[in-house]
Amino acid sequence: MEPSILAPSMLAADHTRLADEIAALEQTGAQWLHIDIMDGHFVPNLTFGPQTVADLRPKSKLFFDVHLMLDNPQDYVEAFISAGAEQVTIHVEPEYDIAPTLDRIRKLGAKPGIAFNPKTECQAIEPYLDRIDIALAMTVQPGFGGQSFDENVLAKTARLDQWRTERGLNFRIQVDGGINRETARQCRNAGVDTFVAGTAFFKAEDRNEFLRAIEAMS
Ligand code: DX5
Ligand code: ZN
Repeated sequence: MEPSILAPSMLAADHTRLADEIAALEQTGAQWLHIDIMDGHFVPNLTFGPQTVADLRPKSKLFFDVHLMLDNPQDYVEAFISAGAEQVTIHVEPEYDIAPTLDRIRKLGAKPGIAFNPKTECQAIEPYLDRIDIALAMTVQPGFGGQSFDENVLAKTARLDQWRTERGLNFRIQVDGGINRETARQCRNAGVDTFVAGTAFFKAEDRNEFLRAIEAMS
């Protein structure tokens, strides 16, 4: 399995001082930044837009992992990639042309990902596994930080891991929502290599140590 990566989620940062928060998290040695984009339709909350990503881009070397929680992600992938997204993950639940959108993300120079909610079966993303770089299993209902981890998702990440091996594919498997040291350990045992953490990272007494604990998991 790939080494573990922690992607701290900007949602849990102080939104009035994002540049400083990101500079501080980069100091911990984190490589990725998870950026949650919400539209008030697919999820009942609103967050950032392409301008936020564009303004942060020159201030950071972090890998921008952009999670689109939108009803119409196909209309926004260009805007986020032009703004500096290096990975763009779209959800499987809304009605739109998913495969062409994933292919367009790659053509525009970013890594494509597909996400699914806790109530969605992992079979829903199975048709797309050969065109993605990352599969995102939501471990909470998306929309808000600080919710608790749904352990029913573990069987789904284990299945994804099995498909990945059987088919010789090498997409990453990511979890998002309620991730802390304990739930990360459970996920790692179920095939996960990429961990989004908002609350647990930003509220950690020692963020460096939290990062090291997650990334040292084998
Ligand atoms: C939730 C977002 C998450 C969120 C996770 O809809 O997709 O990325 O930041 O927050 P925590 O880690 O607090 O559950
Ligand atoms: Zn997210």
